[in-house]
Amino acid sequence: MTNDERRATGDGRLGAYEVLRPTLDTSRIRADFPILAEQVNGRSVVFLDSAASSQKPVQVLQAMDDVYRHAYANVHRGVYTFSEAATERYEQARVKIARFIGAPAAENIVFTRNATEALNLLAYSYGRHFLQPGDEILITELEHHANFVPWQVLAQERGLRLKFIPISPEGRLALDKLDELLTPRTRLLSFAHVSNVLGAITDPRPIIQRAHAIGARVIVDGSQSVPHMPVNVVELDCDFLVFSGHKMLGPTGIGVLYGKRDLLDAMPPFLTGGDMISAVGFDGPRWNDVPLKFEAGTPAFVEAIGLGAAVDYLSALDMSAVRAHERELTAYALERMSEVPGAKIIGPTDPDVRGGVVTFTLDRVHPHDLASLLDREGVAIRAGHHCAQPLHIRLGLSATARASFYIYTEPHEVDALIEAIYKARHALKR
Ligand SMILES: Cc1ncc(COP(=O)(O)O)c(C=O)c1O
Repeated sequence: MTNDERRATGDGRLGAYEVLRPTLDTSRIRADFPILAEQVNGRSVVFLDSAASSQKPVQVLQAMDDVYRHAYANVHRGVYTFSEAATERYEQARVKIARFIGAPAAENIVFTRNATEALNLLAYSYGRHFLQPGDEILITELEHHANFVPWQVLAQERGLRLKFIPISPEGRLALDKLDELLTPRTRLLSFAHVSNVLGAITDPRPIIQRAHAIGARVIVDGSQSVPHMPVNVVELDCDFLVFSGHKMLGPTGIGVLYGKRDLLDAMPPFLTGGDMISAVGFDGPRWNDVPLKFEAGTPAFVEAIGLGAAVDYLSALDMSAVRAHERELTAYALERMSEVPGAKIIGPTDPDVRGGVVTFTLDRVHPHDLASLLDREGVAIRAGHHCAQPLHIRLGLSATARASFYIYTEPHEVDALIEAIYKARHALKR
């Protein structure tokens, strides 16, 4: 049943349509996502794990299929038609992505495999080149391992001090501690714009201003924000921004590092080999210009073109409308979850400061058991530590359950989640 049909039939069980002011035409959007018509265990799939990886619209699949069918050849190398066509589409994708995040130029965009690789690139190239023993790196207690482990390794290797902004009792960053944590030795601050566990949205601007005031550089992990809300790097004035294509309708294997031009120019390469040099002689190499200096070897150009199509899709929807849609869904999900006996929401309960991620525990039910039982009902959620073990240690939890939303999520899917949780409790006699 489409949204419109539900409205027409006034399906009382759902009841959400009176509460929600739809900002996206989800019926039309869902028609672009073939996988959402799949059945799981005999039921229409209710896919609530987009924070891990989103589904893909036909426009993205077709953009990639079209390259393979009509314009496939290695980029930046051939002088023949296919290679020139593939190169042009690849570089056009870079331009689209630059525009999507308000970057001054395409040269600010480095393609990586994912956000993790972008952060490792920064730790290796920026961190190993510019940080000295005794310098401090400030991250937060809520970071994904991708923004945690590279800094731990760098700190151990280089004798740096790694410090953490704590979380507040309501599950947001305790920014009142920022001034005492930022010291003249702080060289780098790296934090998630939106937490993949708590859903907490942090306003990056005041943090970036305070870090810049003491001369520190700032990395924003936009993995959970760029797919879901307007993000403009010039307005933020961040030094670097990282995100992954697969969480924003794009394929796997492609991610983005945005960097300010002077910093990218000053940084040494991360990986070396073909494409990242301008010339190699027996006396040594000369590096290519930014961004190719950071793109050694054959890049994932078909995937980059797919990400370009994803960005076209999101831009046509308008990112403010995407955020408004997810805010409404989150508010509705938080309200419905509060009815479930034994359910505890992890993170802020104000939908204005929460992305489309609803993480929770259920009294005396292990999140993995819950996720397995929900799968029997066709409902896909995530269970575990969500690659944020230090945060779970702080929360005193070994695992949590997480439902996450995107442009194609409809309120009746929140209802399906709640109904499936009740069934699971019943099955487990909780
Ligand atoms: C906040 C955050 N940062 C980084 C990552 C890492 O993304 P990837 O695995 O695509 O590199 C994720 C993935 O879940 C994330 O949620």
